[in-house]
Amino acid sequence: MTGNSSVHSKGACRVCGGTVEEFLDLGSQPISQAFLEPRATEKEFTFPLTIGRCASCMMVQLLHDVPRHLMFHREYPFHSSSSQAMQAYFADVARTLLRTELTDDDPFIVEIGCNDGIMLGTIKDAGVRHLGFEPSGGVADEARAAGVRVRGDFFEEGTAKEVCAAEGTADVIYSANTLCHIPYLDSVMRGVDALLGPNGVFVFEDPYLGDVVTKTSFDQIYDEHFYLWSAESVRATAARFGFELVDVLRLSAHGGEVRFTLARAGTRTPAPAVAELLAEEQQRGLSELATLRRFAANVNGIRDDLVRVLTDLRAQGRRVVGYGATAKSATVLNYCGIGPELVEFVCDTTLEKHGKLTPGQHIPIRPPAAFADPYPDYALLFAWNHAEEIMAKEPAFTEAGGRWLLYVPDVHVV
Ligand code: SAH
Ligand code: TMP
Ligand code: ZN
Repeated sequence: MTGNSSVHSKGACRVCGGTVEEFLDLGSQPISQAFLEPRATEKEFTFPLTIGRCASCMMVQLLHDVPRHLMFHREYPFHSSSSQAMQAYFADVARTLLRTELTDDDPFIVEIGCNDGIMLGTIKDAGVRHLGFEPSGGVADEARAAGVRVRGDFFEEGTAKEVCAAEGTADVIYSANTLCHIPYLDSVMRGVDALLGPNGVFVFEDPYLGDVVTKTSFDQIYDEHFYLWSAESVRATAARFGFELVDVLRLSAHGGEVRFTLARAGTRTPAPAVAELLAEEQQRGLSELATLRRFAANVNGIRDDLVRVLTDLRAQGRRVVGYGATAKSATVLNYCGIGPELVEFVCDTTLEKHGKLTPGQHIPIRPPAAFADPYPDYALLFAWNHAEEIMAKEPAFTEAGGRWLLYVPDVHVV
């Protein structure tokens, strides 16, 4: 069954119009967070999940995009605050911005994709003027209930200009795990240009291509993750819109990210870290097709290993349960063809996922209590980016003889 994904002049870079050369085909995929009711009869939307690299600006991007209203809507099930580690992390991000950038009289910060208010809550507590853009109504309401100011729209040129007209320019525009979700990056950059004050900064953090390639973390590729940034591609994009990449910071969050800081060209001296990361990318040939094709070959190897391990475990009569019904897991399950015959169910803390099925492969999702009732032999950790937090709260699983099964950076048991 084929979905009606929109193809933007196939093969043309969404940033510069250059030619995008495909290096990995992850097959036909459903919407990564479209969890199904058990007896749902309507056909699932699917689209071809293929990724390539622009020969001109080096931007790594999907070749097909899913209409945004099919992903981000009132029932969008990802709640940023479901991880306590991420709550602490974003409180720290907010404190850093308050200390370093929001120091003038009456500063103003805008967040793109504020979700349930995980970062802006701390800004609100400090009494600083703020506005979050959040089109997914359910999580936006949670942010509002926490006292955060939210505009329930997609950030783009038009909505950004409206905010500027009504509230003036922003000192900081911040975005975490959202900018890479936005194929219409040109509109967003024009919006940032309109809304950001003359000496302001645009700070965003997302999964880093360098980490995805090093760890073969191909599950970072799914409908919502349209771009995988490198310092090289971000620098080129910034320049097209009159901005300059002035800082980069590597982060361990979500399996390896970079926090990019852009400023209007010429307003800030770039930190040495920018040239260092650019040099490192050059040296390892990060954006070269040969590197990306080697990555693709490694992805195939992980698929073969994982399917073999799961098939062997089933043949031995072992029980395997998934841990974390993540968006990332949709890519793994559907690319590898892993269904309920190999993974009995997936447990997850998110209330609205309970009783539903994973998209495409239809594995049941159960509350965390099901995990221990009784413990399986193996837990396939789909939320591997939260491994520390999850393993710390499940000590009884390994004490009972259970083992964690991971597939990043390769298939292994801990
Ligand atoms: N910043 C949070 C949320 C990331 S999830 C965190 O790091 O945990 C991505 C969020 O971006 C979703 O809540 C989605 O609704 C929102 N989003 C998607 N497109 C957007 C756009 N154009 N403008 C603002 N938010 C957007
Ligand atoms: P993420 O990897 O995109 O952040 O998604 C994490 C998913 O894992 C989310 O659905 C919540 C779930 N989860 C648990 O079930 N238990 C946990 O302890 C944590 C941290 C997350
Ligand atoms: Zn390009």
